[in-house]
Amino acid sequence: MKPHALRAARAAGIKHHSPYETAGIVITNPVPADAAQIHELISRCRPLDVNSTYAYLLLCHHHADTCVVARSGNHLVGFISGYVLPRDPDTLFVWQVAVHPEARGARLGARMLEHLMKRESAKTVHFMETTVSPSNAASRRMFQRFACLLRAAVEQEMLFDRDAFGQQDHEEEVLLKIGPFDTGTLREVM
Ligand SMILES: CC(C)(COP(=O)(O)OP(=O)(O)OC[C@H]1O[C@@H](n2cnc3c(N)ncnc32)[C@H](O)[C@@H]1OP(=O)(O)O)[C@@H](O)C(=O)NCCC(=O)NCCS
Repeated sequence: MKPHALRAARAAGIKHHSPYETAGIVITNPVPADAAQIHELISRCRPLDVNSTYAYLLLCHHHADTCVVARSGNHLVGFISGYVLPRDPDTLFVWQVAVHPEARGARLGARMLEHLMKRESAKTVHFMETTVSPSNAASRRMFQRFACLLRAAVEQEMLFDRDAFGQQDHEEEVLLKIGPFDTGTLREVM
């Protein structure tokens, strides 16, 4: 992490998780200084909804422990946003997973998920929830493989149907619930 980003992280009270580096890509937690690049990355990752830079600033500030960035040099090539459900503290909701189009097909999405779940802050997490739109085969495959790695069951149910999005032409979002699992399993198998 660059010195100014480290200073910003400390000022915001964000703990810097041990980074994981492979094939020149460093996977770690985000800092607010990443928000503009995250916004840019998401805009290249259809079909994801592009949230405001302010939303990414808040995620990097308040939820850095449950978000992930992957950097190749100065370039941001991957991002996960997530948060622990306020009413279910043993459940991590994974909101957006994004891998730059040029970095796809190398299991970066899976490696970011693994990094997230191996953190100290994930020790008390026993379920992962996420939503997948029916046409997103790559996303579904990534989460199914992740569930296999954790030897966890996957249940699915409709969370938000098309009508929930009002006038916006938006596919339905199907909830995947993965678990229960013990993140210790992940530390053993990797
Ligand atoms: C989904 C995404 C994060 C996957 O990232 P990635 O690092 O390329 O993922 P992986 O290399 O681990 O591939 C995931 C699996 O999907 C498969 N896959 C990739 N593209 C696919 C496609 N178009 N159709 C079907 N399967 C596909 C891969 O073969 C792999 O399966 P395998 O491990 O059995 O071979 C990436 O494609 C992306 O950013 N997409 C746009 C944003 C998005 O849809 N995010 C997910 C919703 S939150």
